[in-house]
Amino acid sequence: MDASGSASPLLTPGTGGSAAEGYTLAVIGCGTMGVAILSGVLDSKTQVEARKNAMAAAASSQKQQQSNGGPDGPSLSDSIASLLDVDESSDPSSTRLLPSRFIACVSRTESARRLKRTFAAHADVVEVVASANVEAAQQADVVLLACKPQMVAEILVKEKGMREALHGKLVCSICAGLRIEQIRDMVDESTRVVRAMPNTPSKIRQGMTILTPLPSSDPLAAQSRRILVSIFQAVGRCRFLDEKHFDAATALAGSGPAFACVFLEAMADGAVMMGLPRKEALELAAQTMQGAARMVLESGMHPAAIKDSVTTPGGCTIAGLLNLEDGKVRSTVARTIQAAAEHASGLGQTSKK
Ligand SMILES: NC(=O)c1ccc[n+]([C@@H]2O[C@H](COP(=O)([O-])OP(=O)(O)OC[C@H]3O[C@@H](n4cnc5c(N)ncnc54)[C@H](OP(=O)(O)O)[C@@H]3O)[C@@H](O)[C@H]2O)c1
Repeated sequence: MDASGSASPLLTPGTGGSAAEGYTLAVIGCGTMGVAILSGVLDSKTQVEARKNAMAAAASSQKQQQSNGGPDGPSLSDSIASLLDVDESSDPSSTRLLPSRFIACVSRTESARRLKRTFAAHADVVEVVASANVEAAQQADVVLLACKPQMVAEILVKEKGMREALHGKLVCSICAGLRIEQIRDMVDESTRVVRAMPNTPSKIRQGMTILTPLPSSDPLAAQSRRILVSIFQAVGRCRFLDEKHFDAATALAGSGPAFACVFLEAMADGAVMMGLPRKEALELAAQTMQGAARMVLESGMHPAAIKDSVTTPGGCTIAGLLNLEDGKVRSTVARTIQAAAEHASGLGQTSKK
């Protein structure tokens, strides 16, 4: 790790720095979710850079053709070149708002060894460290707190120098149930704290993350918001919601993949009962659920309208739907979200003990 031990003067009030110059993200507690988020961000950077290189190569080859006697006037290459000049700050998924350097922190050396193998292809930008949270926080501009909730006090309060290392920095906690107020109590007043709740499909960049907004009084709120969107859009969709909605959103998006998989498996079971082989039944069920969900997201259609559009009078769909209603599926599913949200509201409080 660099001995200088301090972050570049970015994202800290009054420094005049800008994220476009590059910044460092430290992931403290780089386990399942940390790896998922880091991998998504790295994939996203690689894809954007490859696209830019391809466009630059196309533009340069066309310019070369023109200088060899091609037609005058604006050409495709000019359009491509102008695309390359576009101010990327207007694009929230822009690579410039993604970190340029990463520090992945774990506690055990064997975990660090494993992580180094995971990120071997990105060794030029990803540094993996064990038991060096304070040094990582010193060098970072943005810190993603991705350890287990019960480890947070240990790291933020008990580690010597952490309070100073996080001075004025943006800390984004993904720890389930831990309230912003609880984290603020563990850090310096100048540390800017937000909460994020990603979900497991982040691993395949199909996640849904909710984020708490920064207060509008924060002079860096707009820039921090764009940075957070860049990071979490790299692993799927993200949206800002007030913290009061976090328990409901945690139940819906965080626990939702488990609930959806129960429904998916049950649909496949029915088809297996009717003679379809298990493998095909699971494929059909999964693709059908994905298709229905994408129709809602991409067409903006209400789910009831999609349901009605596939329900022929007297047909098999209405026969199945009535069976679902007899089983009180709607209230069972809705109550499931309610129960999970009520449970989520107590989660962070146990870590206080
Ligand atoms: N999994 C999900 O679907 C999900 C969804 C949303 C939010 N979350 C939240 O994400 C957080 C992480 O969950 P996870 O499933 O990714 O857990 P995980 O796989 O167990 O990862 C925890 C990581 O923390 C590291 N760690 C432990 N003590 C540490 C310390 N003192 N300093 C630095 N690193 C330390 C561990 O490293 P070692 O291996 O070296 O101990 C491990 O890499 C939790 O707070 C959870 O509430 C999880």
